[in-house]
Amino acid sequence: MNQTFARFVLIGLSTDPYVQPLIFIIFLLIYTVTILGNVLIIIVVRIGIHLQTPMYFFLSNLSFIDLFFSTSVVPKLLINTLSEDKSISFLGCVAQMYFTLALGGTECLILAIMGYDRYVAICNPLHYNTIMSLRICVIISTGIWVFNFSNSMFYAVITFQLPYCKSNDVNHYFCEMPPLFHLSCKDTLMEKIAVYISGSIVGLCAFVLTLLSYAQIIFTILKIRSTTGQKKAFSTCTSHICVISLYYGSIVFMYLRPRGSYSVEKDRAVAIFYTVITPMFNPIIYSIRNNEVKGTMKKLLKKELQTSVIKIRI
Ligand SMILES: *[C@@H]1O[C@H](CO)[C@@H](O)[C@H](O)[C@H]1NC(C)=O
Repeated sequence: MNQTFARFVLIGLSTDPYVQPLIFIIFLLIYTVTILGNVLIIIVVRIGIHLQTPMYFFLSNLSFIDLFFSTSVVPKLLINTLSEDKSISFLGCVAQMYFTLALGGTECLILAIMGYDRYVAICNPLHYNTIMSLRICVIISTGIWVFNFSNSMFYAVITFQLPYCKSNDVNHYFCEMPPLFHLSCKDTLMEKIAVYISGSIVGLCAFVLTLLSYAQIIFTILKIRSTTGQKKAFSTCTSHICVISLYYGSIVFMYLRPRGSYSVEKDRAVAIFYTVITPMFNPIIYSIRNNEVKGTMKKLLKKELQTSVIKIRI
């Protein structure tokens, strides 16, 4: 009865053989854009003279997270889409679940801190430099990383100590907790409760901090008399609010749905949002309206172009 499989099979996005090449091409494109966009943001923030501030530190950290998040899901998806063998080893499955949960949680808290950073900058500008120094930001982000990577250990242990004997077909395109719980032959109510409670505490804290920060920001902006001042303050925040809505929208839909509406197809569609789409859009959304980032990018690309021209001449 206590059998546990050595490998799991990831059913993937579709079982239709004619759709596979299409899935492969679309996700390869998305993945390429994700990698390029996020690497570019990290480089730009590192070299930009005006970008040595907490906001950009967190932005580049977000890109760092997105880079690894999509890398823990998409390459395996691409390989499995093309190959006959759709399996993933037990350890691979553990690692995939561990990293997606740890990075997802880290992203959630980094977004919350970014909101708080904007709140201090807009509502409390005189104290900004004492409250948010780069040193404090490094300490906070290290704390967030350490916390989430230890917290996920707990989820991984809970999930993989379960006996799996029903089937090893994971009805998903990567190893995620809900479809794995589905495969266990033991009743998973206690595990679900433990996961929900600890997940809700972290998620709720992040969500409340984010919500309070942006509520305060919007109140403050509405009180500004000049419309140019309002526009300027809004322009940095609209992009943040876009990213946050995209992110929380899909998580809430995935985890806080009434049980009756549970459907595997819907789950997969929503998961595409936070595993594939958000990591691609984050750098685009953040840089498209940001002149500092755009300026540094242009300079960087020009310089790259020049050096490659010089190399070609030589
Ligand atoms: C993000 O933060 C972590 C923890 O402080 C750090 O180790 C990592 O280098 C940072 N990454 C970037 C790109 O800023």
